[in-house]
Amino acid sequence: MNVSVKPNMTNHWMPFTNNRLFHEEPQMFAKAEGVKYWTPEGREILDGSSGLFCCAAGHGRPEIADAVYKQLSTLDYSPHFQRAAPVSFEFAEKLAGILPDGLDRVFFAGSGSEAVDTAMKMCLAYHRATGNAQRTRFVSRAWGYHGVNLGGTSLAGMVNNRRDFSGITCDVVHMRHTWTEEQKFTRGQPETDADLANDLEEICKTYGGDTIAAVFVEPIAGSIGTIVPPKGYLEKLRAICDKYGILLVFDEVITGFGRTGSAFASQAFAVKPDLITMAKALTNGAIPMSAVATSAEIQAAVFEAAGDADRPEFFHGYTYSAHPVACAAGIAALDIYAKDKLFERANELSSHFLDGVFGLRNLPHVSDLRGYGMMSGIQLTPGDAPGAKGSWAQRALFDEGLHVKATGDAIIFAPAFVSTEQDIDDMVAILQKVLGSPI
Ligand SMILES: Cc1ncc(COP(=O)(O)O)c(C=O)c1O
Repeated sequence: MNVSVKPNMTNHWMPFTNNRLFHEEPQMFAKAEGVKYWTPEGREILDGSSGLFCCAAGHGRPEIADAVYKQLSTLDYSPHFQRAAPVSFEFAEKLAGILPDGLDRVFFAGSGSEAVDTAMKMCLAYHRATGNAQRTRFVSRAWGYHGVNLGGTSLAGMVNNRRDFSGITCDVVHMRHTWTEEQKFTRGQPETDADLANDLEEICKTYGGDTIAAVFVEPIAGSIGTIVPPKGYLEKLRAICDKYGILLVFDEVITGFGRTGSAFASQAFAVKPDLITMAKALTNGAIPMSAVATSAEIQAAVFEAAGDADRPEFFHGYTYSAHPVACAAGIAALDIYAKDKLFERANELSSHFLDGVFGLRNLPHVSDLRGYGMMSGIQLTPGDAPGAKGSWAQRALFDEGLHVKATGDAIIFAPAFVSTEQDIDDMVAILQKVLGSPI
């Protein structure tokens, strides 16, 4: 492979990209396998962020390609409004097998953003069904990322994702984020700051706990750069939600499917939410798909409210909900996770991975390190403007042969669980070279 011809880049308006800079210095991938990408010119790039935290089992898994081909050639598309394809029930049942106990009802959507908005509506539908239609307010957290649809934009706690869209957001109150100076360079869960969960208690006192439908949090805040919850924090959120009858939603779009060393972060931290949103590694990133899991009780309440009427119980769904090809990819992905014991592998590899990450501590461009399981955040010293250092690092690392996602001035380093220790060492060596360069 050596495709040195630049494509015409006029027509594709790229998402979350400085399009103008990209047109000058395109950084493209033309091929992927295992934990490597190749540029169109044939240069090898190690994948330090599992694509975008999607490809937990590595790239180019033939089991998924075969399942997708087979499904496409048998039933390429089937509507899921008043119709179904058996493969969707098979996938939901298989997924229920790894979800936290009691969260075994699964609603499919197409992206993480759609899962979040679906979960918001599910919470509203549940409260309406149980005589609490006044619960219309949501609580989320500063620095949170919950996708870019309108609900998720309202929940978002990242300034750039909100600022230009304030006119279209809904009623959300934000708790503080859980990072404090004291936690700097903490490996795993911080011992301090669980009391930040009391922000929720204060919000309940200020707005009325009985006006709040749900609290949305990422158990580990991913996109902002891996902020690990203090010990006891999620437990406190759970207790306050129970006290006020508020639903707790864990957005596990990044943390789901082994990233924490357990299938879900809910299991890793032993705190059970009422709903879980998931996407990304649901199909190992091969086909877009997401899901919301909830309990039989929540589903039953919504079903019962419909009474005997011949109508959908939940007026919500997408053309691509439970797309049969995505379901086939998802079944193949779950089979790989089980067969290759990849969640256990993530757990085993974590200590070598975190050793590598925390070995970056004294580099001139590093101001903080955080990590849990196979997920880490490398905070960079500030550059000329917010985000400038992150953008520089992302490009410099690519030039040295490492792909990572940067948000603002944080790098999110989260390789695939099929990485060998040597792969991790090679990635860390590139980080060391770039982040160790003179300021
Ligand atoms: C926690 C979380 N929720 C939601 C989303 C949105 O997912 P998508 O980009 O598939 O819409 C993301 C994406 O990174 C995420 O990290």
